[in-house]
Amino acid sequence: MSIQKLGVIGVGQMGSGIVQVAAQAGLTVLASDKDGSRNEKAKAKIEKGLSRLVEKGKLSDEDLKATLGRITWTTSLQDFADQDLVIEAITENPQAKEELFKQLDEICSEKTVLATNTSSISVTRLAAVTRRPNKFIGLHFFNPVPVMKLLEVIKALSTDEATYAVAKEIGEKLNKQIVTAQDSAAFIVNRTLIPFLNEAAFVLYEGVGTAEDIDQAIKLGLNHPMGPLELSDFVGLDVVLAVLDVLYREFGDVKYRACPLLRKYVEAGWLGRKTGRGFYNYA
Ligand SMILES: NC(=O)c1ccc[n+]([C@@H]2O[C@H](COP(=O)([O-])OP(=O)(O)OC[C@H]3O[C@@H](n4cnc5c(N)ncnc54)[C@H](O)[C@@H]3O)[C@@H](O)[C@H]2O)c1
Repeated sequence: MSIQKLGVIGVGQMGSGIVQVAAQAGLTVLASDKDGSRNEKAKAKIEKGLSRLVEKGKLSDEDLKATLGRITWTTSLQDFADQDLVIEAITENPQAKEELFKQLDEICSEKTVLATNTSSISVTRLAAVTRRPNKFIGLHFFNPVPVMKLLEVIKALSTDEATYAVAKEIGEKLNKQIVTAQDSAAFIVNRTLIPFLNEAAFVLYEGVGTAEDIDQAIKLGLNHPMGPLELSDFVGLDVVLAVLDVLYREFGDVKYRACPLLRKYVEAGWLGRKTGRGFYNYA
């Protein structure tokens, strides 16, 4: 299958990045958010990102126009009937994702492969709500999508080889390096990363160090480009918490218990960079 038409649903931090790289790669992209103002925001973000490339001489004005011209924005799921591949990047909520995939399964043609960008939810569970569980796969991109090289591909129990080939094809087209993971909670990267971010929140909670000291210690001591609290703010504290809760439920192991401070911040709406406040204040 040659993928020409890509649908992206949910154009927040991740979806907008996927839309951008796909349009840059020459695909025809249909982008949608249930909240129309998020479409506008994503469009502006992509225009800004591409304009920066023009300023740096990495993209011509014509290519910028052509790239933007390949993106269509909609708020209607009905428009997704004829896509080759649809990537879902909505909020990390199993019920919301299940509901969306049930609707997409009804709307999309038989050829359409469905994919989720979930960080932690069982891909097999999401595949099972559709009548095409063989044509369902996890495509886990990293933030920011235009910069990060990795695409973690997650095979559901039901994913067939033709669908896996589609995942490999899209990875190549978008210039990503693929790593394949089995469908176990949080897969490879987040299974390793998220408990580390949680531990940093506990270190702060217990007063072992200030946020600045914790991040500085990890950057200088472990040669990480970002400290764990900075990174949590960047990922979104709601996303970090959601992944921890899934790990805790799936494995029933207390080592995945979310730090109460992290949960409190999420309750307060302090979700990190995207809300202007998290472990740090960005206002
Ligand atoms: N943030 C990260 O670093 C990261 C990395 C990899 C994967 N992910 C995963 O990507 C997904 C999106 O995360 P994000 O950080 O971009 O979230 P986000 O909150 O920035 O964006 C989510 C978007 O989905 C929209 N949305 C919610 N329900 C919808 C629906 N039913 N139909 C259409 N649009 C809907 C929201 O309006 C919002 O614009 C999550 O599953 C998350 O776990 C996040």
